[in-house]
Amino acid sequence: MKVLLSEDDIRKAVRKVAGDLSRDLSQKRPILVCVLKGAFLFFADLVRELDFPFEVEFVRAASYGSGTKTSGRVELLLAPQMSLLGRHVVIVEDLVDSGFTLQALRRTMQDLGPASVRIATLLDKEGRREVEVPVDYVGVKMRCGFVVGYGTDCAERYRGLPAMFELEPGEIDS
Ligand code: IMP
Ligand code: MG
Repeated sequence: MKVLLSEDDIRKAVRKVAGDLSRDLSQKRPILVCVLKGAFLFFADLVRELDFPFEVEFVRAASYGSGTKTSGRVELLLAPQMSLLGRHVVIVEDLVDSGFTLQALRRTMQDLGPASVRIATLLDKEGRREVEVPVDYVGVKMRCGFVVGYGTDCAERYRGLPAMFELEPGEIDS
């Protein structure tokens, strides 16, 4: 497997997103919403770079089953439990591909009456979008195939790898 983002690349990307969040949200006590499972390591590293007040919440979404292609149907397996009413919400994702997951999550959050909904992602996969979704904070934007490591998986494997790797490009369409 080819290294896509090294540990050092990831550290820089995390700091970039943390800096952007600090600039926009340090006075707003935002609720940072981690999208399980893939974003758990990014989320854990990101919050440790923030030096302003915030709260955390967790949601879980799935649409890929055990494959490497989206089904386009996003299932919300765990909904937010705390009130988002009148709050500034930041959805924290590992990566954006087709955009289906974030489109669905954004609508779910919007329905709960927040003051604002923003989106942060570690990796924006360039040229892959099938639906438009505004991504406010991006760690790294690049063209790539299916990615694993640093929280992200293929059929639940590889989540513990400290860097991000690209599986053979051939596997993307299989
Ligand atoms: P989208 O809905 O196609 O934008 O994909 C976003 C969601 O699917 C994210 O929550 C990811 O966890 C997962 N995902 C998309 N592409 C990949 C990938 O290359 N590797 C691992 N997970 C992915
Ligand atoms: Mg995910």
